[in-house]
Amino acid sequence: MFKTFREDIAACMARDPAARSKLEVILAYPGFHAVVWYRLSRWFWRRRFYLLGRVISHIGRMLTGIEIHPGATIGKGFFIDHGFGTVIGETAEIGDNVTLYQDVTLGGISPSENSDVQRLQKRHPTLGNDVIVGSGAQILGPITVGDGARVGANSVALMNVPAGATVVGIPAKIARGRAKDEDTDHVRFAAYGTQADIADPMQRVIDALLDKVQGLSMQVEDLERRLTDSSKAEWDITPNYDEPAPAADGDSDGGGCTDQNN
Ligand SMILES: CC(C)(COP(=O)(O)OP(=O)(O)OC[C@H]1O[C@@H](n2cnc3c(N)ncnc32)[C@H](O)[C@@H]1OP(=O)(O)O)[C@@H](O)C(=O)NCCC(=O)NCCS
Repeated sequence: MFKTFREDIAACMARDPAARSKLEVILAYPGFHAVVWYRLSRWFWRRRFYLLGRVISHIGRMLTGIEIHPGATIGKGFFIDHGFGTVIGETAEIGDNVTLYQDVTLGGISPSENSDVQRLQKRHPTLGNDVIVGSGAQILGPITVGDGARVGANSVALMNVPAGATVVGIPAKIARGRAKDEDTDHVRFAAYGTQADIADPMQRVIDALLDKVQGLSMQVEDLERRLTDSSKAEWDITPNYDEPAPAADGDSDGGGCTDQNN
């Protein structure tokens, strides 16, 4: 169990830019405390001390504001940043190196209906490895979130999320598919789920406006050129010696009318 705690501390250090030392994580990280309480409650739960497991889990909830059911299965390197208001249900399964922020729910879809039928059934989501779930996101039902997927802040995910995809909104839809790193099974973690090389939104707007202005000025140039060409053609009175000269009697269609007077 201590090896797992070491991995949990390492996960906090690696994934929170604000973490300064392991001691700080041990003393002042509610997400880490919640995981410690969870692992303890899980130990009893797995040995069928269900009530004791629940009570330990409840103490953890009182102290951290994070509720993790001891029946949930959680892999190594699990990190809950801030975490207040986060709820993880009984049949949730979480892979390795998963990150959750505050106010996340891994919950059942309709917990208040037919509770007896749902008992001991898989009701909560399964998260693969390296998943990031943004603050306020709700992942509901026995759905699967694939390896390396990201669920945007405040999204409500009700359908399976493919590996490597980013889903956002209510209901959550794919914003962008991200291919998995082929060299390794590990998708590089980005704090808060955002990439360091992501463009500044203002810069993106300015770039889009510059593209538009450039497109418009090219159109104006083109129109000016066409206008100049057509007015040149209209006023050009230089005779064209390649074409046959008009008939001397002014009959522009080359004769025929003269027959009328005969
Ligand atoms: C979803 C998230 C992980 C970003 O993932 P990403 O793969 O880097 O995706 P991008 O930032 O490129 O966004 C993709 C699209 O989704 C939109 N988007 C991103 N996050 C969104 C959200 N939470 N809700 C709605 N739309 C969102 C973006 O505007 C973008 O739209 P566009 O394609 O029209 O420009 C990130 O936005 C997020 O929600 N992170 C959680 C952060 C968090 O909880 N922080 C708490 C710290 S205390």
